[in-house]
Amino acid sequence: MKVWAVANQKGGVGKTTSVVNLGGLLASRGYRTLLLDMDPHGSMSSYFKLDPDITEDSLYRLFQVRQSRLAVHPKEIVHPTRFENLALLPASTAMATLDRQLSIADGMGLVIARALKLLTPDYDFALIDCPPQLGVLMVNALAACEHLIIPVQTEFLAVKGLERMLRTLDMIGRSGHPAPEYTILPTMFDRRTRASTSTLQSLRECHATNLWRAVIPVDTQFREASRMGIPLTIRSPNDRGSLAYGELLDDLLHPATQEHLSAIGGA
Ligand SMILES: Nc1ncnc2c1ncn2[C@@H]1O[C@H](COP(=O)(O)OP(=O)(O)OP(=O)(O)O)[C@@H](O)[C@H]1O
Ligand SMILES: [Mg+2]
Repeated sequence: MKVWAVANQKGGVGKTTSVVNLGGLLASRGYRTLLLDMDPHGSMSSYFKLDPDITEDSLYRLFQVRQSRLAVHPKEIVHPTRFENLALLPASTAMATLDRQLSIADGMGLVIARALKLLTPDYDFALIDCPPQLGVLMVNALAACEHLIIPVQTEFLAVKGLERMLRTLDMIGRSGHPAPEYTILPTMFDRRTRASTSTLQSLRECHATNLWRAVIPVDTQFREASRMGIPLTIRSPNDRGSLAYGELLDDLLHPATQEHLSAIGGA
């Protein structure tokens, strides 16, 4: 099973949208895909019509560890979605209390990594949606994933959030745990606005090595698909937003192609 996380300490940058749409694509390409909603606000759970205020079988239960044993097998809290090959480990609002209850020093930073190991035979991919703050949930996601996607909204000040996120990765790297490889993903790109073009330009100048070669365009269809509870990549696979996530997925699955394309100045 491959584990990817999507994180940025800045809110509203397209994290949940990226997880839902990459997940929809993986599932429609036949990969058994598990989505993890690590955000106590539960936006992704709500996307799939699960209410984080009342969901009891949520990721919260994995953190109720007894003598370093999981209180529940993660399989018991997996919820199916109405889409083939797409399952969800949902959030509940109670997860907001975890930072007060737990300390990463007690081994609580590896809860998700351990739970996913138990699910390895059942899924080809696990995609983790993170909350926009650094805490025990994000640390768990970063420790569990082999690749991190950092969506950056192409607008003024967005680079500040990215830099905060990169400092977090650096801190994790220095704490002895290998920090994951990462891809910076420019989102909500509108080529008509100066905010978008100049942000993309500064990303290219300062973060060329890890920057994805293309962009996710601004597309109102994402919001519409979210209202309907269907990943846009499943509802309208030929929509331009869906096509952009498709290209991203191809590059994530075949990183050598991505290097080749950026070397020749693709997109
Ligand atoms: N490419 C896009 N074009 C237009 N709207 C988008 C795009 N990506 C996301 N959105 C919209 O922007 C809003 C924020 O997106 P999303 O919820 O994915 O961000 P987030 O980073 O998960 O936010 P949070 O930090 O609050 O969890 C949503 O209403 C979503 O539908
Ligand atoms: Mg979100």
